[in-house]
Amino acid sequence: MAAPRPNRSSAPQRVLVTGSASGLGLEFVRWYAVRGHRVLATDRLTAEQVLEGLWPAGVTYRQLDVTSDDDWAAAVDWVQQSWGGLDVVVNNAGIAAGGRIELSTMAEWHQVLDINLLGVVRGCRAAVELMLPQGGGVIVNVASLAGLIHGPSMATYNVTKAGVVALSETLHHELAPHGIQVSVVCPYFVRTNIAGSMHSADPAALAAARRYVDAARATPEVIVGRAMSAVEAGRFLVLTDAMGRLGYWGKRLAGPIYRRALRSRA
Ligand SMILES: NC(=O)c1ccc[n+]([C@@H]2O[C@H](COP(=O)([O-])OP(=O)(O)OC[C@H]3O[C@@H](n4cnc5c(N)ncnc54)[C@H](O)[C@@H]3O)[C@@H](O)[C@H]2O)c1
Repeated sequence: MAAPRPNRSSAPQRVLVTGSASGLGLEFVRWYAVRGHRVLATDRLTAEQVLEGLWPAGVTYRQLDVTSDDDWAAAVDWVQQSWGGLDVVVNNAGIAAGGRIELSTMAEWHQVLDINLLGVVRGCRAAVELMLPQGGGVIVNVASLAGLIHGPSMATYNVTKAGVVALSETLHHELAPHGIQVSVVCPYFVRTNIAGSMHSADPAALAAARRYVDAARATPEVIVGRAMSAVEAGRFLVLTDAMGRLGYWGKRLAGPIYRRALRSRA
């Protein structure tokens, strides 16, 4: 069985990042670019909507809406023509969502599933198309602690992120024999623009998302730095925060306390 190809930052790599005009995606682009890798930054925004000078010199930008099969096909084509392959994909694009089940609309469910879950599915399919023939690569999927711990009033978001964790674990096993590493990153709240992307029919959920994200002490720079250390070490499950480790292990080792803590938030 071939071992996954090591993702050493010293060897030049060809990298595609989704959702890279803001927050964590922007920081993933910077992380790779300042280390001399070739980076294709993508986002749903047009090139004109993206601020000039956002990324270090040398980064290429392409519009890629992760819900569009055509955009993915065009990106794969670009990567093949321009680089002849791809070493790393960071499936990062995502939006905030949430709300009590009786208030969340089916339109909200469809939108968040299409972006947060199927967007990552499409990104993994594109990566595999490029990486299988070359016999290796690295897939980094950005989920969330919400993919592991499912608090109340967040069903839409929790389901998509749990789906990303399940997808990642499946592919971690499935693709290892082909030399492809899969890592899933599960941060707690990070101070980014994500609350602005949230549309919810539940005003309390909207307010809570803004409150938690605005109060977050973690910055994208710190979280991406920690995530990349773990990815480079070949780790599958990447918990970037103390709160994440506490929640993850608390759920497994101290079930009654964990359940009481979540119930108190309902
Ligand atoms: N900020 C947090 O507290 C937090 C915590 C855990 C996980 N995450 C996850 O991190 C990822 C990045 O979020 P962020 O906090 O940096 O948010 P952000 O809003 O700052 O950045 C998200 C980027 O994704 C882009 N995007 C949105 N929809 C898209 C689409 N359909 N196609 C392509 N690009 C699209 C946006 O234009 C934006 O540039 C998301 O998957 C999010 O769920 C965030």
